Amino acid sequence: MAKPALSSATRQKLELAARKVMKNAHAPYSNFHVGSAILLTNGQIFSGCNVENASYGMTNCAERTAIFSAVAALGPKIEIRAVSVTNDQGVPCSPCGACRQVIYEFGPEAIIYFQGATGPKQAHITELLPEGFRLQ
Ligand code: THU
Repeated sequence: MAKPALSSATRQKLELAARKVMKNAHAPYSNFHVGSAILLTNGQIFSGCNVENASYGMTNCAERTAIFSAVAALGPKIEIRAVSVTNDQGVPCSPCGACRQVIYEFGPEAIIYFQGATGPKQAHITELLPEGFRLQ
């Protein structure tokens, strides 16, 4: 059965955590500061920002920073219930393809909250990443 949607208070808390961590972004190359917060099924929230590098391909997106922090703190059994993404320019910004696959690894039922083309949007991870890859 589908899990109930997050309460607006929980959603706001997640959004606030994403906004707060966004201030720590290391984004001197793109100047695009991103924050992300994830809600685990155990109720804990972890957050992360983008961390860029002079070797551009080494950049880590905010979403993956948040997820990797949660795994580092709690181990690999975490389950992601929801992800919030925000940026400092108020422009549309959904998780990139790589992050969608990483979200799917730990949250095949996750709901993603992000800025869409016409305003705030929410989507199930499988809407953003149909046929996500899993090793059985
Ligand atoms: N970025 C994220 O951190 N998350 C997203 O969802 C989209 C893009 C970062 C990567 C890079 O540091 C900057 O935004 C510009 O692409």
